[in-house]
Amino acid sequence: MIRLEHVSKQYGKGKIKALDDLTLHVEKGKVFGFIGPNGAGKTTTIKLLTGILTPTEGKVMIGGQDMVENPLAAKRMIGFVPDSHEMYERLTGLEYLNFMADIYGVDAASRKAHIEKYLALFELEDAAGDQIRSYSRGMKQKLTIIGALIHHPPVWVLDEPMVGLDPKATHLLKEEMRRHCEAGNTVFFSTHVLDVAEKLCDEIAIINKGKLIAEGTLEELRSGEKGASLEQLFLEMTGEAEEATV
Ligand SMILES: Nc1ncnc2c1ncn2[C@@H]1O[C@H](COP(=O)(O)OP(=O)(O)O)[C@@H](O)[C@H]1O
Ligand SMILES: [Mg+2]
Repeated sequence: MIRLEHVSKQYGKGKIKALDDLTLHVEKGKVFGFIGPNGAGKTTTIKLLTGILTPTEGKVMIGGQDMVENPLAAKRMIGFVPDSHEMYERLTGLEYLNFMADIYGVDAASRKAHIEKYLALFELEDAAGDQIRSYSRGMKQKLTIIGALIHHPPVWVLDEPMVGLDPKATHLLKEEMRRHCEAGNTVFFSTHVLDVAEKLCDEIAIINKGKLIAEGTLEELRSGEKGASLEQLFLEMTGEAEEATV
């Protein structure tokens, strides 16, 4: 469903590659976790696979559509939650969600059902009529998630989605991610929270300094190190203990 083929990204001539020859395949029905220390290239990868950045080399395919040749078809399949949200502070939550629904051409009945379901789930009903600038960070994060999924995209791409969420909302989001994949869809997300990755993901990739250093199920990553936690493996592989607990 998601294919990155030998993708590299260089932010400027002569600069080192933020991403170096990354090849990743994520099949339908999988929750795929992308982990790595700060500056490893996670956000760069996510911006490439959502078409915000163009690769310096290589190819990005979403559901068989090439992101460079067919960007609209590829992007339509994606629901993207960025790591920071510059939101429309003067819109109310509800106006923002309707704006997102308009962009994606979601019909009235479908948007109403989605908005009602998720506002209730994330307990945002009372705030939906307030301007976004009055929202806490967690409320903005919840609203971003609701808006990103409004067109029922098969592929969810989430950059550090649990940041700012309280434990209950984190739990709900994890359940939604699992449910989405069990329905035959795909979730790709980056995280610093290794416990979350360990429990939630069908497959994990570890990236360090722009290079893929490991990929597979937790069992495959352990390869012989019986009982090793993801944290232990991560620290061994990246050798950057101080950054791993952020
Ligand atoms: N717009 C940019 N211009 C130049 N360098 C960038 C830009 N964005 C990211 N980088 C660099 O690319 C590398 C990877 O960053 P990023 O993808 O944000 O990592 P992560 O999300 O894993 O923390 C870092 O060295 C970062 O400084
Ligand atoms: Mg990042």
